[in-house]
Amino acid sequence: MIYIIDFGSQTCHLISRRIRDFSVDTEIIESENALESIRRKRPSGIILSGGPSSVYDKGAPTVNPKLFSLDIPILGICYGWQITAQLLGGKVMKGHREYGPTKVTIASRKALFQNIKAKELTVWMSHGDNVVKLPKEFSVIASTASVPMAAVEHQKKRIYGVQFHPEVEHTQEGTRMLRNFADSICHEKIEIRHIHVEDVIDEVKKIVDKKGKQCRAIAAVSGGVDSTVASAIVAKAMGKRFTPVYCNNGLMRVGTADEVRTVFEKKLHVKPIIVDCENRFLKALKGVTDPEKKRITIGNLYIKIFEEIANKLGKIDFLVQGTIYSDVIESKGTKHADKIKSHHNVGGLPEIMKLDLLEPCRHCYKDEVRELGRQLGLPHTVIAKQPFPGPGQAIRIIGEVTKERLEKQHMADAIVLEVIKEEGWYEKVFQSFSIMTGVNTTAVKGDGRVYGELVGLRIYDSSDIMTAGWTHLPYEVLQKISTRIVNEVPGVSRVVYDITTKPPATMEWE
Ligand code: XMP
Repeated sequence: MIYIIDFGSQTCHLISRRIRDFSVDTEIIESENALESIRRKRPSGIILSGGPSSVYDKGAPTVNPKLFSLDIPILGICYGWQITAQLLGGKVMKGHREYGPTKVTIASRKALFQNIKAKELTVWMSHGDNVVKLPKEFSVIASTASVPMAAVEHQKKRIYGVQFHPEVEHTQEGTRMLRNFADSICHEKIEIRHIHVEDVIDEVKKIVDKKGKQCRAIAAVSGGVDSTVASAIVAKAMGKRFTPVYCNNGLMRVGTADEVRTVFEKKLHVKPIIVDCENRFLKALKGVTDPEKKRITIGNLYIKIFEEIANKLGKIDFLVQGTIYSDVIESKGTKHADKIKSHHNVGGLPEIMKLDLLEPCRHCYKDEVRELGRQLGLPHTVIAKQPFPGPGQAIRIIGEVTKERLEKQHMADAIVLEVIKEEGWYEKVFQSFSIMTGVNTTAVKGDGRVYGELVGLRIYDSSDIMTAGWTHLPYEVLQKISTRIVNEVPGVSRVVYDITTKPPATMEWE
């Protein structure tokens, strides 16, 4: 068992998931009483997570320094390393910010870096502070151009620190570093773990059986991989006692309603209820420009519509949702984590609705959900589908969502998808979409001046959602998208490509 002390990192659960992938148990614990529970349970290793605080913040989370004398291996990641350095007599400098990819040069190929052949690796940074003086008896084992102490180790004790994030997919050999920690340093027995859909179905059965054999569920399906996989799991667990419902609110991608009908009727043999409610959503969104307010407005109406349907169907016990773990963590899933956005399918639903939530994929990352879909035999078009956010096009239209701007967004977005598919990029990228930016710029179309809207393109690679890099698409593909959008979408004057990594930028613009 490896303990992970949570200082509020967006990737705390990802650290846990990486370690669990080696078939090593983990427990995420809060920093406050860490020493007591670690003394009691004697885990084989401890990981100190990153977090949004500076060690100099008032009330910044910390640990009892006696933790470092327990003779249990410790790996501090980002903030976890900074707090280690501070507690052991080193010095942290405030305000040395760095976000995104950087090159690290390895100085020692032992312990944390054993079995890594490359001398130089690309690693992912996301920090506001930096360690500038090592505590006594520590040595540098890797450095970057701007962070000389990018990875360190204690000369006698098994204590390690890294300023970068080994847990994110964009850090090269990051999984190997964590494996080295679990394996050679903590002496855990490593076996690569695989997720099994039968286990997830059994878990759902256990939950619903507690309510009795007659209980029923409805599913909020969006046509996306998450809600389809969640629904298919519940269909296997509950059979005809479950009804999928699709809210055709006009904010989803064009053609989604037909797709939902086909997949559920033909492949899963359950008849979905499809509710047409675009006008209700447009009315509710009238005048709403604040992103958080948009999400809440959409979320509330969504809940209301579901309650209406549930009431019509008679007694229903559960609402199924395709929530996955990144939704949970980014809606403040852990104590010290910063709130980034209120993903509408998490916040507040269980309290407002009279129905209990059933979220079979709540603990899964995207790639695990896809694996479950494959094991369920779902069509490839569903499994390979790019994720699409619950509030849909509304958060890709900066400012007010009007019928006219929604139509333009649908057109531009459809062009992006068409070209990306034609050119063979659809399955290589994580998400690709257009954004109505709300900025007007001048153009000349024909012989006349057009003062039209600027469309943004966001196309990027990711698999864990926590980090993303913009896709280096060939210029010809970008040109094709741009030409088609300015020619085919009325009132659009210009197209720009977003080349920001996550972090710092989130994937969506709102
Ligand atoms: P961000 O923009 O937070 O996006 O980097 C991460 C992933 O989440 C999706 N996303 C949402 N999904 N409700 C959702 O169901 C939301 O409010 C929401 N906001 C962002 C986004 O598309 C990306 O896949």
